[in-house]
Parts: sequence; structure tokens; C-alpha cells
Amino acid sequence: MKNILTAPFVREMTATTANMYRLGWDERNGGNISYLLEEAEVKRYLNVNKVIRTIPTGFRAESLIGKYFIVTGTGKYFKNVEKDPANNLGIFRIANDGETAELLWGYADGGKFTSELPAHLMSHMARLKVDPQNRVVIHSHPTYTLAMNYVHELDEKKFTHTLWEMCTECIVVFPDGVGILPWMLCGTNSIGEATAKKMEEFRLVIWGMHGIYGAGKNLDETFGLIETVEKAAQIYMLTCNRPRVNTIQDSEMRELAEYFGVDYRKDFLNN
Ligand code: 13P
Ligand code: ZN
Repeated sequence: MKNILTAPFVREMTATTANMYRLGWDERNGGNISYLLEEAEVKRYLNVNKVIRTIPTGFRAESLIGKYFIVTGTGKYFKNVEKDPANNLGIFRIANDGETAELLWGYADGGKFTSELPAHLMSHMARLKVDPQNRVVIHSHPTYTLAMNYVHELDEKKFTHTLWEMCTECIVVFPDGVGILPWMLCGTNSIGEATAKKMEEFRLVIWGMHGIYGAGKNLDETFGLIETVEKAAQIYMLTCNRPRVNTIQDSEMRELAEYFGVDYRKDFLNN
């Protein structure tokens, strides 16, 4: 059996968490990632019959029974994942009861998966119904996106429209727009259910005055979605207290979406 630390999915997780930390999006233990793995790829590195411990999840994930995930640990600092993956990450399978995580590797100091597991697994379930290729959910606290939450109306149409105006490629990268939840208590099944409901419609969901969730086929795509929102939010925050002299017109956004052949939220344009 090969060394788990050489597995591409472990390497991708350490590279992504390091990148997010470097960008200042994930202070202290802020942020978490879950990545759905194929059984065959896990078997190359781990004996899947050897369960180290079982951890109750606190909710039922029927459609994820038997599925494998690599997930960041609760209370763990993104800045430390690269140098110590075994303490900061864990790989588990959802047991036959749908409510237990069977730990196969990681959380070596006795830790467990992120406190945001409900939002992650419920979002996976919702996205897999829309896109069977979906494998990644990322939660983060990107600085400018968060700053924008305090000065911009938290309305899905208005917020998405403003982001689309900030960079030419925004409407092409996230034509489905950005869903928004009001401030809610984090770490709960309720915020998980509300996030998953939004994920039926959006790949990006803002948690008001907390952060953002993104979902996608792989780590690059999901990271790229959040990165593009964050870039647009940065431009908004750099320009919002100055007179607006120029802007991208709705007709130009429509032209972009049609040229690149993306299915965009037409109801999020004003005219
Ligand atoms: P965890 O340390 O449990 O992953 O929580 C971090 C966080 O961002 C909570 O929303
Ligand atoms: Zn958070």
C-alpha cells in the first residue's frame, strides 16, 4: 500500500489550505473543506476495513452512506495543515446507519471533523442531485467578501449584480449568481439545512457577516469560484466610496454570457 501522504487528494488539500491561509481568508481555525473521494482511490493508500474510531455526525446523510470524504478538522489552523496533515485532516466513510463517520485516517491527536460538517454534507447531498460530478465544498472567510457584507444590501439579485459589474469575467464564472443567508448561528444542523436549500440553486452561498460556501467538481474549480467573488468584492470595496464614472452595462453582461454560452440568471439583470 502506498504512503497516504503522497496521495494526490492529500496533497491537493494541503496545497489548497496553504493557499487560502496565504490569501488571508482563513484566520486561526476559520474555514473548512470537504472532498468526496472515490473508494478505489482511497484503497490505494488505506485499508478501508480498518476503522480507527467511529464518530457520530449528529444528523442523517442517507444518500451518502458508504461514501468517503477527506475533511479538515475542527479547531485546526489552515496555516498548519501542510506541515502536519495527519493531525489536521481526516478521512472517513459514512457508515450504514447514515449517522456515523468511520474514521480511516487522520485526526491523529483525537480530534474530529469540522463543526460545519452538517452544512458540508447536506450541501454535498444537494449539489450531487443537481450535478453528479460535484465533489468539493469549501467554506471560507475571505476578507473583502466579508467587508462587502457590512456595506452592501444582502439581497441575492442586488449583491450578484454588483459582483458581476466588478470584473468582466464574473458573469461567465458564476452565471448562477450568489445565494445569501442572513446571519445565523453557525455549526448547527439548521444552518446546514438552509445552506443545502440554497445549494439546490447556487454553487456559491454567502453566510451573512460570516463567510462564504462554494461547491464544485474539484478543489481548483471551487477555490476559483470563491477567488473570483473575492476579487470582485475587493474591487467593490476599493471603489464604493468614490463616484462611479464607468460601469459594465447589463447589455455587455448579456453579450458576455451569450458569447461564452453560459446559462445565467437573466432575472438578476436590471434591463
Ligand atoms: P471549524 O474549526 O470547526 O472547522 O470551524 C471554523 C469555522 O469557520 C466555523 O464556521
Ligand atoms: Zn466559518
